[in-house]
Amino acid sequence: MSQRQEEAMSHAALYPGSFDPITRGHTSVIARGVRIFDEVVVGIARNISKKPMFTLEERIGFIEGALEDEGIDRVRIEVVDGLLVEEARRLGCGAILRGLRAVSDFDYELRMTTMNRELAPEVETVFLMTEADKFHVSSSLIKEVARFGGDVTRFVTAEVAEALEARRSED
Ligand code: PNS
Repeated sequence: MSQRQEEAMSHAALYPGSFDPITRGHTSVIARGVRIFDEVVVGIARNISKKPMFTLEERIGFIEGALEDEGIDRVRIEVVDGLLVEEARRLGCGAILRGLRAVSDFDYELRMTTMNRELAPEVETVFLMTEADKFHVSSSLIKEVARFGGDVTRFVTAEVAEALEARRSED
């Protein structure tokens, strides 16, 4: 077996994102991820380009709640700070897991994956296509719907829906 094959044989995958907040789209990817990998490490990005609506602690709490709500095991939550591939190595993950929805995701994901492969060829990126009923589910759209008083309860946990409602009444 080549060194590259051996290096890639970690059975954990890093699933990175801002999770601001976690949605049923994310939990679907995590649930499907643990059917492929022994462990999924949810890597919550501390520094994201957009100002997050929820604090790091709130976002972690929502992820814990969502995992419990859906009964998903073999998941670890870690804060990721730096370059994704370095974080994958640090956390013992041989793969990066990403969900793919519309074609609009594709360009960004292809560029990110190609850059990550150049930086760390042993870390493979694995994509899971979204489930048909979650094609339109994103944290940013859900925040927008909630901001204008729309019902988001089927896209997020009750805890997240309440937190979004509380933010709306603060505005
Ligand atoms: O919430 P998102 O948009 O799905 O998450 C984006 C994230 C956190 C995965 C992305 O911004 C990222 O990888 N940040 C870490 C910094 C990094 O490694 N950048 C180079 C990738 S080419």
